[in-house]
Amino acid sequence: MSSSHDPLLQPYRIKHLELRNRIMSTSHEPAYSEDGFPKQRYRLYHAEKAKGGIALTMTAGSAVVSADSPAAFGNLHAYQDEIVPWLKELSDSVHEHGSAIMMQITHLGRRTNWNKADWFPVLAPSPVREPAHRAFPKAAEDWDIARIIADYADAAERMKAGGLDGIELECYGHFADQFWSPATNKRTDEYGGDLDNRMRFSLRMINAIRERVGSDFIVGVRMVADEDWELGFDREVGVEIAQRLIATGQIDFLNLIRGHIDTDAALSNLIPIQGRRSAPHLDFCGEIRKETKFPILHAARISDVATARHAIAEGKLDMVGMTRPHIADPHIVNKIAAGREHEIRPCVGATYCLDRIYEGHEALCIHNPATGREATMPQIISKSKGAAKRIVVVGAGPAGLEAARVSAARGHSVTVFEAANEPGGQVRLITRVPRRREMIGIVDWRVSECERDGVEFRFNTYAEVADILGLEPDVVFIATGGIPNTEILDGGNDLVHSGWDILSGDIKPGQRVIVYDDNAAHAGIAVAEFVALSGAELEIVTPERFFAADIGGLNHAGYAEVFADHNVRITINSRVRSIKRKGNRLSAKIGSDYSKKTRDRTVDQVIVEHGTLPLEDLYFELKPVSKNLGEVDYQALRSGGLQDIAANADGSFQLFRIGDAISSRNIHAGIYDALRLAKDL
Ligand SMILES: Cc1cc2nc3c(=O)[nH]c(=O)nc-3n(C[C@H](O)[C@H](O)[C@H](O)COP(=O)(O)O)c2cc1C
Ligand code: SF4
Repeated sequence: MSSSHDPLLQPYRIKHLELRNRIMSTSHEPAYSEDGFPKQRYRLYHAEKAKGGIALTMTAGSAVVSADSPAAFGNLHAYQDEIVPWLKELSDSVHEHGSAIMMQITHLGRRTNWNKADWFPVLAPSPVREPAHRAFPKAAEDWDIARIIADYADAAERMKAGGLDGIELECYGHFADQFWSPATNKRTDEYGGDLDNRMRFSLRMINAIRERVGSDFIVGVRMVADEDWELGFDREVGVEIAQRLIATGQIDFLNLIRGHIDTDAALSNLIPIQGRRSAPHLDFCGEIRKETKFPILHAARISDVATARHAIAEGKLDMVGMTRPHIADPHIVNKIAAGREHEIRPCVGATYCLDRIYEGHEALCIHNPATGREATMPQIISKSKGAAKRIVVVGAGPAGLEAARVSAARGHSVTVFEAANEPGGQVRLITRVPRRREMIGIVDWRVSECERDGVEFRFNTYAEVADILGLEPDVVFIATGGIPNTEILDGGNDLVHSGWDILSGDIKPGQRVIVYDDNAAHAGIAVAEFVALSGAELEIVTPERFFAADIGGLNHAGYAEVFADHNVRITINSRVRSIKRKGNRLSAKIGSDYSKKTRDRTVDQVIVEHGTLPLEDLYFELKPVSKNLGEVDYQALRSGGLQDIAANADGSFQLFRIGDAISSRNIHAGIYDALRLAKDL
């Protein structure tokens, strides 16, 4: 489709604001804030999307308007005047590249905790606890309500002073809509009971904001239009709320949400995780757009350009949110406009980004390590100005493929050796779990980029030292990965299987199975899901305080559903000590760090997950003849600088180990290893 006719690339106007196309990033807190302010990291992150052609970036996730709404996940402090200069820099840097910028503000209500910042009590319309954040809130008093309305107006004024094009009021699962919902509003005063009363807070708040910012500043509402919950309100009430907000004449757009967010299970449908269907709430939004005839924005797993285009072409939305897709690739719009849609790095829905913020870290994309690191890592690889080099990569898992992709994009000649008959390494194994098939996008995108840039792949080839040296390389990447480390029991190690044995199809799942997960990441519970789906009677045993402690809440939700549906027994705080044969079955001795007691359990299969041990022989064979003796300059690695260690004058090539060939880690770690070593070659 030519860009001049592409529905996605047509401009759109909200009030006086001309948006250059129909693609936006909805509000999300990447937890890049520093001291509660959007400093350099925040700024570069949003500026990159602006460079990439996005029409509107909605910044912050829930910048907090009051001090008694302490940041739950790195939220910006909209309640402090000192934020204004930082906002100015942020909005200037986005405007400079032709995009519009707004910010979402909120009072989190019960969706935070009291044990941080100023230790103020958590506040909500009624003392109903939110399971996800677990605080028991105080019911807001009259003076709280008056104070928070004034705080909203103050914060809105700061946003305007900061040069933003507008604001969005967060009204799903937060203080304002906690008044709307019968699940959270049990009040009997003028703020509880019928809808007039339940909307009183939000209408007063919007009124106060409008009085403060005037009529020409854009104010929108991100609102839940159907809580899809037996305790909450339905679509009919949601539409009524929308109509009443519109009737105030004080708002300029609605950004629609369907569902509720008080538990991980519920949130995983509202922000649909991997394996959930594409664009689940799009038709719903289209219906509401028809009924309200008002500007409608929306995002929820509209991850591919075809679906986004359909949303606009069919009049379901005015602006389509592609939020995680922009975390995966901030240059989506430019690639569409240039007819290079197929080069968009796909968002595979892994939701590593969001899970990290709930675990107290910053958002990072599972397969784009440049996002959030724009100060040191490039989103677009530029051609090297030096002479073309010969690069050899051993291993075509995610780390090896990234090293090959980046090296080839630099203009070098790249050969990849891979022992298997196809690329992907452990990622390909993960895709044997049906819910996680999309992960193959991590491999397919890299292979396609490599093919375009002329990378030579040699599959079914165990690279020997002579093969590598025969290519006279300038740089060698060892990305050979690892092998499962299952020999961790006091006895019976020869009787266990690895997750790889099962996922590869070499060994079929047994009927009564123990998965002993002494890793706490995806690997163990992914194989557990595969086994559970086979119909086996399954017990997961883990020494951790809860299962797969290292994955976040949204990924947890996907596994927990399968385990609950298949009656999987989950035993925490326990270790499989040893295994012995018992007739044609196995007897597993299970103990605990907390007690000397043990119990025996009879099963017919034990699967052990304890990460991998690096496949490093080739690295150590090459090390003595390499220029850098395998050494990495960590200071340069930190700052994004050049690697120029030359400890061996006789060496003719640089040697780098990356990914699990160093130690058992995750996809992001391996890809980041590769990017930061290859980007300056
Ligand atoms: C890291 C991260 C943080 C988020 N924080 C917020 C937030 O504070 N407020 C909000 O309204 N939505 C937040 N969201 C939800 C997004 O705005 C969006 O609704 C969601 O990611 C679904 O859209 P997508 O499938 O295009 O990513 C967050 C999403 C992510 C990935
Ligand atoms: S971590 Fe996964 S969901 Fe998040 S942006 Fe990256 S690919 Fe998308």
